[in-house]
Amino acid sequence: MRPALLDRVGRMIDDDLPAYVYDLPSLREHAHTIRAALPERVELLYAAKANSDPRILRTLNKHVDGFEVASGGELSHVQRLTPDAPIAFGGPGKTQTELAQALDSEVERLHIESQHELRLLTTLLSDRSIDVLLRVNLPVDLGQVALAMGGHPSPFGMDPAQLDQCLEVIASAPRIRLRGLHLHLASGLEAQAQLALVDKVLTWAQGWAYKRAVDLAEVNVGGGMGVDYAHPHKAFDWTAFGAGLRPILARHPHLTLRIEPGRSVTAYCGWYVTQVLDIKFSHGQAFAVLRGGTHHLRTPAAKQHDQPFEVIPHDVWLRTWDRPEARAEPVTLVGQLCTPKDVLARRVMVERLRVGDRVAFAMAGAYAWNISHHAFLMHPHPTFHYVDDAEVPVPGTYAHQMS
Ligand SMILES: Cc1ncc(COP(=O)(O)O)c(C=O)c1O
Repeated sequence: MRPALLDRVGRMIDDDLPAYVYDLPSLREHAHTIRAALPERVELLYAAKANSDPRILRTLNKHVDGFEVASGGELSHVQRLTPDAPIAFGGPGKTQTELAQALDSEVERLHIESQHELRLLTTLLSDRSIDVLLRVNLPVDLGQVALAMGGHPSPFGMDPAQLDQCLEVIASAPRIRLRGLHLHLASGLEAQAQLALVDKVLTWAQGWAYKRAVDLAEVNVGGGMGVDYAHPHKAFDWTAFGAGLRPILARHPHLTLRIEPGRSVTAYCGWYVTQVLDIKFSHGQAFAVLRGGTHHLRTPAAKQHDQPFEVIPHDVWLRTWDRPEARAEPVTLVGQLCTPKDVLARRVMVERLRVGDRVAFAMAGAYAWNISHHAFLMHPHPTFHYVDDAEVPVPGTYAHQMS
């Protein structure tokens, strides 16, 4: 944790914890690095589902070409916060109300998930027009990936053969402009695997469009750039990805490539900071019971990994009995929930962990608070803090916002 964040945590009282701390300067720098690595012909959208915190969205707005949203709720939220940003609206199971909202709010792109959805759209057009991408589930071998959304039977997008029926619907609905195709096939791919997939997808897309005389203006290859929770310093290689895209794009001179990463953009800027409430030994194994848990940070339960963490020692101990501690041994860090699934990290070696020490979980900026089951057991919500070096700190106070 960098000094500005440690300083902020140091000024928190125990009842501020658990706390989400967002490092906005490093988010800004990371987004800038991503943008700078990508060729100009690549449009970078941020998938708001990863973390739609208002200050995160506003910070990213200056570095991305737009946002990808996947519900009417996300659409309203992102539009309210960044009214001028282009928005692509995707996701399965859009309701009629959501499709009408997409038309009313003039989203830049609508990603169509099925022929039925397209037909529903045609009934809502009246005098309005819309640019669409058809989402395809291409049968490609994705190998070992963290999360596969396509390449096999799935509820996402359409089989290539089903696209032809969509072309017929579009031919009879001139207010629907087909801009291209959308594919989000997998999450968790490293740069070289992503490049191989993009290459395969673009070659297929061009061939598909050529055979049907479709004027293919753009292909959105989705997000899914890998984030390795076991190796926090081994981030997705945006430089290699950007460099590898150049020769691929050179083979498709008239195509705009869109990407819509989420996790790889915001995972690193968020910290979930909490405190050790108890240290227990059960049948020979050490457990640290923390304030909060997976109802605030569901990521390790959802992805079945150990959330990386740092111990922030807190030396004050005013009790009359010995301070419970674990020393030089593997400890399982759990939360306050009455379920054995409430585990944030399992049997991780620690040098020393004591009741009252603070623990800062890293990589908690994506699919963290917003995917967690907040209501379970009715514990208080975490507090939210934003470290921004541009802010002039007022001694003894800090920006503090309850969610
Ligand atoms: C259609 C679509 N686009 C983009 C994303 C973002 O993926 P990631 O956060 O892995 O980059 C997702 C995630 O589920 C998605 O479903």
